[in-house]
Amino acid sequence: MDRERRQEILRTQRTDRWRRGEPHIGGYYGEEEIDTVVQTIRDSMDPNEGFGFICEEIEQFEQQFAAYCSADECVSINGAGTGLDMAMMCLDLQPGDEVIVPAINFPGAALSVIGQGGQVVWCEVDPRTFQADPEDVERRITPRTRAIYPVHMNGMAAPIDDYLEIAELHPHPEHGPLKVIGDAARSCGAGYKGQKIGGRAWMTVFSFHTMKLMTTLGEGGAVTTSDPDAAARLRAIRQFGGGTQWGTNYKMTKVQAAVGLVQLARLDTMLEERRAVVAHRNELLAGLEELTLPYEPEDCRHTYYLYTCLVPEDWAGEKRDRIIQIMSEDYGVGVVVANPPCYISNKFLGRMTEGQRLPLSEELGRRLMCVSVHPKMTTADDEYICAALWETVERVREEG
Ligand SMILES: Cc1ncc(COP(=O)(O)O)c(C=O)c1O
Repeated sequence: MDRERRQEILRTQRTDRWRRGEPHIGGYYGEEEIDTVVQTIRDSMDPNEGFGFICEEIEQFEQQFAAYCSADECVSINGAGTGLDMAMMCLDLQPGDEVIVPAINFPGAALSVIGQGGQVVWCEVDPRTFQADPEDVERRITPRTRAIYPVHMNGMAAPIDDYLEIAELHPHPEHGPLKVIGDAARSCGAGYKGQKIGGRAWMTVFSFHTMKLMTTLGEGGAVTTSDPDAAARLRAIRQFGGGTQWGTNYKMTKVQAAVGLVQLARLDTMLEERRAVVAHRNELLAGLEELTLPYEPEDCRHTYYLYTCLVPEDWAGEKRDRIIQIMSEDYGVGVVVANPPCYISNKFLGRMTEGQRLPLSEELGRRLMCVSVHPKMTTADDEYICAALWETVERVREEG
């Protein structure tokens, strides 16, 4: 993108629609979702019907979501945070039991380990994909390790088959092969080896929170699994224990499930729209030498939940932050750091994992940044964002 063209775009295509690096609604709704909400409310006015409990909408949503993920079962819930907690409950962790979690992450997975009395063992990520590095995971296994807990980071599939192989190679002395649990909150619909994620790991946890790739009215989530015992346990936990064990109320609502069905049917379209925005962006940013653009391995189909770039090593920290500042203050474009190592960004997790330091993750945490992206971004908006990024990077280069 040459300077003259950039200047013209910046003059004529200014927008402040993308002030958030992680837009607060990740997908979009059409008349169909609105009609569905209204209809479901009307249907629920019947005193013999109401909004409860595990109703037809929920059952249908679960069947369709499981099929979409090539999993046998889907248990819908009120959010991914809940799903992560439930997955850890199903491990029945004993004090001192360890779970391996990538440090470049949202805090939810690590919090769920600690919530169930386990010990978080941080691992490094692959600097090109930002996914938990299988070799580093393997190095950190001890006789106390119970599970490998990767996040499908920023919209892309983590290499689940690699973790599954490691899990078989290093069984726990009492419990057998380590469990692999995926946090797919940001990656609903991501492709891996020709399938959607969610069917290979022991459990995979999804979010339909407002910022996510598909949404169910602000909150919502699901856990997929093909282990019937795990599914039964999850269902019991979700609904007061089913009379046989501890449980509470973690259900999704009927209206959410009805909207979920419409969103699920729309999901692949929204993902393709994101991919088109990104493909155009990659072309516009090609040649901007300080930026390493998102990488998509051959066996993955990225959803681009976030457009995650890296700045050079000698731009780590201050210069990266300067880019974010200029993009926001001068151009009104959001760029977020998602995510620095959890033990740095979250004081509680820092305390609970004191003494563990990961040099690569710390470096990446000072080099990565995610530039706003959304399926509804117009070509003009995307051009504006790219022009702003070129100008900003050149300015930071000149500032020395
Ligand atoms: C990677 C990851 N895991 C878990 C969560 C929690 O999801 P929820 O808001 O549905 O509880 C989020 C939400 O931001 C996330 O990004």
